Amino acid sequence: MNLIQIILLFTLIVPFCIAEQSVVDYCVANLTLPKTPGGYPCIDENKLTSNDFVFTGFHSPGNTSESVFKSSVIRANDDTFPALNGLGLAMSRIDIAVGGVVPIHTHRVSEIIIVIEGTIIAGFIGTNHTAYYKTLYKYDVMIFPHSLLHFQVNVGDTPALAFVSLNSANPGFQTTSLALGANDLPTEIVSKITLLDEEEVRRLKAIFNGTNDLIL
Ligand SMILES: *[C@@H]1O[C@H](CO)[C@@H](O)[C@H](O)[C@H]1NC(C)=O
Ligand SMILES: *[C@@H]1O[C@H](CO)[C@@H](O)[C@H](O)[C@H]1NC(C)=O
Ligand SMILES: *[C@@H]1O[C@H](CO)[C@@H](O)[C@H](O)[C@H]1NC(C)=O
Ligand SMILES: *[C@@H]1O[C@H](CO)[C@@H](O)[C@H](O)[C@H]1NC(C)=O
Repeated sequence: MNLIQIILLFTLIVPFCIAEQSVVDYCVANLTLPKTPGGYPCIDENKLTSNDFVFTGFHSPGNTSESVFKSSVIRANDDTFPALNGLGLAMSRIDIAVGGVVPIHTHRVSEIIIVIEGTIIAGFIGTNHTAYYKTLYKYDVMIFPHSLLHFQVNVGDTPALAFVSLNSANPGFQTTSLALGANDLPTEIVSKITLLDEEEVRRLKAIFNGTNDLIL
């Protein structure tokens, strides 16, 4: 199999995992209308073209220098690729510079990753604190079960490229360091609820623009 066939196969697997019933073939999102828990309302079907079902945002790597984690995630979800609305799947392109990481994070649904270039250590932590992690090479695939904290680390000496697919049109993305450092909770509360000392909380808030350095 060549690269294109592998990526194609990969993106075709996920839809079969969600046997949801629908009374329409598709519902391309009208992004000008408010989103509901079930997704966006549909745009007028008569205005659809083939281009509505194609996403071209993965051609170039994201800029890994813009992130403190030296990685970039380009997301194809219902907000960027409206045809995904209601279909229960999304995809991302992940670029990780040498020495970079995708920081530990969680989302509402499961994620499957395929490595295309480079060498990464990927893993997740179960609710009983067992860590499952492994060095992944080109074309290796790993699953991160829904809601569990997971991460990727580039351990090679070249940039890493991977694609992931997730079984929600908008999986959400909550990164632990940002959750702790980008919020406006008083520093003392963050310190108390994590056992991080206040200096460490301030360091995270400085990196992630968190506010409210309040000691109660
Ligand atoms: C999106 O919704 C707005 C507001 O109802 C409507 O005016 C517009 O025509 C819709 N767009 C399409 C492409 O259907
Ligand atoms: C990537 O981001 C860095 C830091 O913001 C910037 O200096 C650099 O010009 C950007 N590179 C590209 C190719 O846009
Ligand atoms: C967690 O679950 C795994 C798999 O059942 C088991 O092997 C492991 O001992 C458990 N770990 C803890 C800390 O309970
Ligand atoms: C913090 O704010 C600065 C200035 O507004 C911005 O350039 C930077 O990207 C922000 N950092 C984060 C991690 O959001």
